[in-house]
Amino acid sequence: MADDVPKPRVRPAVAADLDILCRIEASAALSPWDRSRFEDSLARHRMLVLLANGDPCGFAVFRQVLDEAEVLNIAVAPVHCRKGFGRCLLRAGLDLLAGEVRCLHLEVRAGNEPAMALYRSEGFQRVGLRRSYYPAPGGREDAVLMRLDLP
Ligand SMILES: CC(C)(COP(=O)(O)OP(=O)(O)OC[C@H]1O[C@@H](n2cnc3c(N)ncnc32)[C@H](O)[C@@H]1OP(=O)(O)O)[C@@H](O)C(=O)NCCC(=O)NCCS
Repeated sequence: MADDVPKPRVRPAVAADLDILCRIEASAALSPWDRSRFEDSLARHRMLVLLANGDPCGFAVFRQVLDEAEVLNIAVAPVHCRKGFGRCLLRAGLDLLAGEVRCLHLEVRAGNEPAMALYRSEGFQRVGLRRSYYPAPGGREDAVLMRLDLP
């Protein structure tokens, strides 16, 4: 992480974060989650918030089922992208789940090169494809399935 980037802090999300997390999601995602999905995730899953200079700049949501987990969502506000925050959130999730799960799954739009580059660089491998899975402007888009085996 560059020297001029504020050192991020990651903590579990709380209800008071949801307004800003919805705004980050709306600014970052092609098909943004609505507020009810955030409320549901807060109640049922593990949601992390990344703060830089005290301000929420991104979040990640992980769902654990027995000894497997899934990255349900991860986003960084566009003005804060390419500062290492996405990687920081992903690693914080891995730390949280370490010792509890043996693998982490996710699905990502086939055209989402920034996200796939992040996942590949953290060791995720492509394990499948769901054709025409996502709605996309002017048609549908494939989903790439990825998996990371944990020690
Ligand atoms: C995917 C996302 C979370 C990455 O967050 P980020 O904070 O920009 O990522 P980082 O700065 O930690 O980058 C980590 C690595 O990801 C890759 N990467 C990130 N953005 C990239 C881009 N625009 N182009 C190519 N590679 C990119 C690089 O390998 C990068 O490492 P490097 O900077 O050392 O080269 C962010 O782009 C985002 O919020 N996208 C919109 C929401 C989304 O698509 N979420 C994923 C749903 S599956």
